[in-house]
Amino acid sequence: MTMVGTGYVGLVTGVCFANTGVEVVCLDVDERKIAKLREGVCPIYEPGLTELMVMNARAGRLRYTLDMDEAYRDADMIFICVGTPSGEDGRADLKYVLGAAADIARVMKKLGPDQRAKTVVVKSTVPVGSTMKVRDTIRGIVGPDIEFHVGNNPEFLKEGDAVNDFMKPDRVVCGVEDPDNPWSVSAARFRRAYEPFTRNGHPIFIMDISSSEMVKYSSNNFLATKISFINEMANLCERYGADINSVREGMCADRRIGSRFLYPGLGYGGSCFPKDTLAVIGMGEACGFEAQLSRAVHEVNQRQRALFFEKIKGHFASRGGLAGRTLAFWGIAFKPRTDDVREAPALTLMKMAGDAGATVRAFDPVAGETGAEAIERMGFETEIVEDMYGCLDGADALVVSTDWDEFKHPDFGRIAERLREPVLFDGRNLYRREQMRELGFDYYSVGRPSEVRAV
Ligand SMILES: NC(=O)c1ccc[n+]([C@@H]2O[C@H](COP(=O)([O-])OP(=O)(O)OC[C@H]3O[C@@H](n4cnc5c(N)ncnc54)[C@H](O)[C@@H]3O)[C@@H](O)[C@H]2O)c1
Repeated sequence: MTMVGTGYVGLVTGVCFANTGVEVVCLDVDERKIAKLREGVCPIYEPGLTELMVMNARAGRLRYTLDMDEAYRDADMIFICVGTPSGEDGRADLKYVLGAAADIARVMKKLGPDQRAKTVVVKSTVPVGSTMKVRDTIRGIVGPDIEFHVGNNPEFLKEGDAVNDFMKPDRVVCGVEDPDNPWSVSAARFRRAYEPFTRNGHPIFIMDISSSEMVKYSSNNFLATKISFINEMANLCERYGADINSVREGMCADRRIGSRFLYPGLGYGGSCFPKDTLAVIGMGEACGFEAQLSRAVHEVNQRQRALFFEKIKGHFASRGGLAGRTLAFWGIAFKPRTDDVREAPALTLMKMAGDAGATVRAFDPVAGETGAEAIERMGFETEIVEDMYGCLDGADALVVSTDWDEFKHPDFGRIAERLREPVLFDGRNLYRREQMRELGFDYYSVGRPSEVRAV
């Protein structure tokens, strides 16, 4: 079995399959990543992954390579797990997926018609029709005589809990060319590969490829909708003096609604929801259909960051302005338990603060390095510090931008001591308003009345 791409999805998938006893080869084009992996160093922060990686590599079941021939020659299943970022028009850019398909085809062509037919699986999140583009790309290169199959197998893992999600999936979804034949080569291969993870009752659904591709976008757009929905309610709460936390409790007790994924905050970020909502809008445009809801979800999400920044700006407006001030940020990662900073709300807020003339300093338990790289790419200045409280020294306010566990019960006395003034902008609603009022903070959160001392 081969994984193409050793990012968050490819590496976790490869390691978890290897852990079932299968021989797995992980291929990447990034020399630095492969060098690290060969040394037993995990290039991403993902709880529990390093231990499994090292164990399976030692057992000889997991290898890393830059060599396509080695990766593709003997594999019966090849999982394409490369990125599908938004293109300039917002639509999913398939260049890495189709590039990988062409690489696979060139190796298959060299092997000739006697090889065992491979199943090339698209695991990357792709718009409907993309897996068939992979098939056409391969066919165009190998010609008519080489047998192979394609499949689609969207991944639902969450960064921060990826190993657990992969090992105990809510469901496994597999798209095959011949969904009516339960014993087709690809269907049988999927069932066998996932059997160790589905035998405890976790369902596996074998379906047609278009539906499988669509399951992933439908799921992510639905989850993104929940986040934008609760943020919309939070914004109304603020304007009418209601408290979204109480509203959440009242609302979420309804079993039809439930409480998961309904937390107000700075809006969603990461490498999936932003691009997958845009991709659905793009899929609509491509067929002359306006995906109105996804567009609104995206717009509400973008506005959420700007609205929060307005609170920061508004606070300082009556106190001489934001220019020349120092803001300390706790959290760069787009969510806790990951070092992924792609589309992180913290980065947008830091850039906005920098553009308004403030000096920005930031602490993150694990995303300091990835954060520094992103900040350099985005072209603004931020000092990354390694000490959570040291970050506050002489700053004019603390902005809590990621809900890491270590931020949930901080020493407020130390915070107040180190800040120039006790001013806290809580983008994740981590703290109780009454407590902040008693402690004498100026406290701003999302969807709840602010606690502000008299000026
Ligand atoms: N990150 C997540 O939480 C998550 C969850 C579910 C689905 N997905 C989807 O999975 C896909 C991959 O996401 P990711 O976060 O793992 O991406 P990533 O950017 O972390 O990793 C992609 C890797 O592919 C490598 N690569 C690119 N072209 C290659 C080629 N031709 N041959 C070999 N390697 C190549 C890159 O060097 C990189 O290491 C995306 O479509 C994403 O939407 C991601």
